[in-house]
Amino acid sequence: MRKQAVLITGASGEVGQALIRALAEDEHKRLLTLDIRPLPADLRAQVDPVEGDLLDERLLARLVSEYEIDVIYHLAALLSTRSEFTPDMAHRVNVEGTLNLLKVAAEQTEWRGRAVQFLFPSSIAIYGMPDRESKELYQRVREWEWNQPRTMYGCNKLYCELLGSYFSQNYRQLAARQPLMLDFRCVRFPGLISAFTLPAGGTSDYGPEMLHAAAQGKPYGCFVRAEARIPFMAMPDAVHALVQLAQAPRSSLSRLVYNVTSFSLSAEEIRRRVLEAFPNAQITFEPDRPREAIIDSWPADLDDSAARRDWGWSPHYDAERAFNDYLIPEIKKRYHDVQATQG
Ligand code: SER
Repeated sequence: MRKQAVLITGASGEVGQALIRALAEDEHKRLLTLDIRPLPADLRAQVDPVEGDLLDERLLARLVSEYEIDVIYHLAALLSTRSEFTPDMAHRVNVEGTLNLLKVAAEQTEWRGRAVQFLFPSSIAIYGMPDRESKELYQRVREWEWNQPRTMYGCNKLYCELLGSYFSQNYRQLAARQPLMLDFRCVRFPGLISAFTLPAGGTSDYGPEMLHAAAQGKPYGCFVRAEARIPFMAMPDAVHALVQLAQAPRSSLSRLVYNVTSFSLSAEEIRRRVLEAFPNAQITFEPDRPREAIIDSWPADLDDSAARRDWGWSPHYDAERAFNDYLIPEIKKRYHDVQATQG
């Protein structure tokens, strides 16, 4: 008898760790995690952890022979800056990895006669504003606008959104017997900021890096100019968005892909909020032109009205609450020793 489970790929990443903490509270769900990197010890105890490569099809076959997978949160990906340095690898992990998993979900859907739910985090990186003037003019971008990414990661995510749509609507459409389709649901995240973890290899990283550096008493050179602006979201809201979308009745969803966002801040506005909490912080602006150009190509804000309308999306943390109730107090606790020595 196979064990029923929720599969989380990329479980050791930022969203993965936060998602495990949230889902582990539900004792009825067995969590099966897959990541190349090991999970922190406290999380390992709460899940069935598998260390391995998403590209290893034999490993995936072994997992479905042991587990009946109901829901997949497919979080594994190489982020945008890292993907520019290793575009081939990014394509393999971000696209081929997703394709492997979609095939598994489609087979499992058919095999058990019930749709496997496939939750996919996409990104603001799928947008590509051609210049700063357009970004200034078109502030809150809707799902179907400006879909011309300028990064490998953005291309990968946009294509995987399409693959997900294909697998949930038209996969094997010419087969004699119409197969049952998997249930693909996707959110496009803005930059994410966690009090507990730091991102690795993204381009929105200057937000969280600025804050974590200040909390540790380390100087920070921000790699975009002061006026550069994109939307952000506190990590608990990212998890809340994924879980809320998973729980929404299919009949209420008019789209497969939804923008979600919380607050839009310039790098200078983040710096000011960080300085309020850590007045001695040394934050300078040292723009790295290629990385800044990626941020310039992402919209200043996202229109998430479809998510609000269809499944009641609403972030718990606006900028005020994100910094005052979550980020600053939790980060102060986390780096408490450094605070003490700073006086
Ligand atoms: N935070 C991601 C990155 O910067 C975007 O989704 O790559």
